[in-house]
Order: sequence, then C-alpha cells, then structure tokens
Amino acid sequence: MSRRPIIAGNWKMNNTKAETTELLTALKPLVADAAAEVVVCVPYTAIDTAASIIKGSNIKLGAENVHWAEKGAFTGEISAKMLVELGVEYVIIGHSERRQYFGETDQTVNMRVKAALAAGLKPIICVGESLEEREAGKTEEVVTRQTKAAFDGIGKENIENTVIAYEPIWAIGTGKTATAEEANATIKVIRDTMAELYCAKCAEEKVRIQYGGSMNPKNAKELMAQPNIDGGLIGGASLKAVDFSQVVKY
Ligand code: 13P
Repeated sequence: MSRRPIIAGNWKMNNTKAETTELLTALKPLVADAAAEVVVCVPYTAIDTAASIIKGSNIKLGAENVHWAEKGAFTGEISAKMLVELGVEYVIIGHSERRQYFGETDQTVNMRVKAALAAGLKPIICVGESLEEREAGKTEEVVTRQTKAAFDGIGKENIENTVIAYEPIWAIGTGKTATAEEANATIKVIRDTMAELYCAKCAEEKVRIQYGGSMNPKNAKELMAQPNIDGGLIGGASLKAVDFSQVVKY
C-alpha cells in the first residue's frame, strides 16, 4: 500500500501573524522527523508569515478555502493563483463550517475543487453528516452524495492530488469522536464510492482519506490504526505545538 499518512492542522479563524510565528517556530523541531506528511492550513492573513517560517522544513502549507473563479468582481474572495503565488500547496474545500454558515453547497465545492486542481493546488475535500442525518440513518447516503458531487467531472489523473476528509459534524469541536470502528466504516464507504467513480485499484492505492473531529494526542493512535484511515484533519489540537506534534507522531 502506498498511501502515505497525512496529518493536517486546520487553524480555522485563529492565530495572528505573531501567534503564527510563535506556534510554527515551536512546531518545526517537534515534527522534523515525522513519518507522516505534515500540513498546516492557516488563515489567509497568516500564509506569508507561515511560508517564511516553514521554508526548508518538512511542514507543508495549506489554505482554508479558495474561490472558483480565476479573478474578477468577487469582493472578499481569494483565487487559486493568489494562493499558489504564496507557496500554498494544499487547500481545504467544503468544510462543514463553510457549508453550515456560509452557504457552501455540493456544487460550489465541486467548482472550487476544479479551480484548485487547475491551478496545481491539492484540495482537501471535506464530507460528513450532521447529527440529525446520522440519527436518521443517512450517514452513508450523505457522504456518498457529497463525494460524488465533489468529484463530478474530475479526471482520474487528479486523484492522487486530492485528499478527502471525513468529518462527522457532531464530532467537530465537541470532544465527541466517532469510535475508530465507526470512522473506519464510513471512510470505507467513501473509498468504495471512489472505487465506483474511478477504479478499485486507484481507490485502494491512491485515495487518501482523513478522519476529522476532536482528534487529539489521546485518540490519534487508535484512529490511525484503522485500515482505511490515512490521516487526520485537526482543529483544536492543531493550535498547540506539542499536542499537534503528538498527533503527527501518533
Ligand atoms: P476539532 O479537531 O476542533 O474537532 O475540529 C475538527 C475540524 O473541523 C478540522 O477541520
């Protein structure tokens, strides 16, 4: 199996430039010998600072969103080309907070994924069910629909440049995690969907799927031991250098 584990921090709306300097300066030596790929997805305003601090290290740079248009009259938005110029490699797309609070839909997720890939960015595409959907027995249906929509019109050659993050909404920032077995089972559903969309071999060998939702130093090892879980998308625990480094080195 050639799926290299990938642990990414999603800082959300946290960290000024000064705080970014402090956190990443502390993080760099702690993860220097990590086996997993390490990514920090930071606010737009911290990208330049982050880029200069992690230069030459094994930490890769990510953003938290990207607009689908190349340029134009979209006040407040940021294009893929702008991110690439700053040295950004990964970009989170379709986070549940964007879907919940900012009108993100399956269709706009797909448009953003296409724009990111066209510019050479690697999307981290988020999918996941709400508590209500889970309780109604709709988890599989929701993640399958979201996955199919996100990859609509995306060619097979792009598969190894994308990462999927399964984030059950009820587990985000709540301290509740899906059990490792539950997370693994839903991620298997996503992998099977990718097998159906592309091919069984690429889904098995090339599609990396993270778990996200209250992942921390205590539960990372058990989650990462699951056969289908290839990494984590970490919110709260990515804001402390020691905690994040411990997840990275699960
Ligand atoms: P928490 O790790 O804070 O639950 O956040 C998860 C998340 O939303 C990562 O994108």
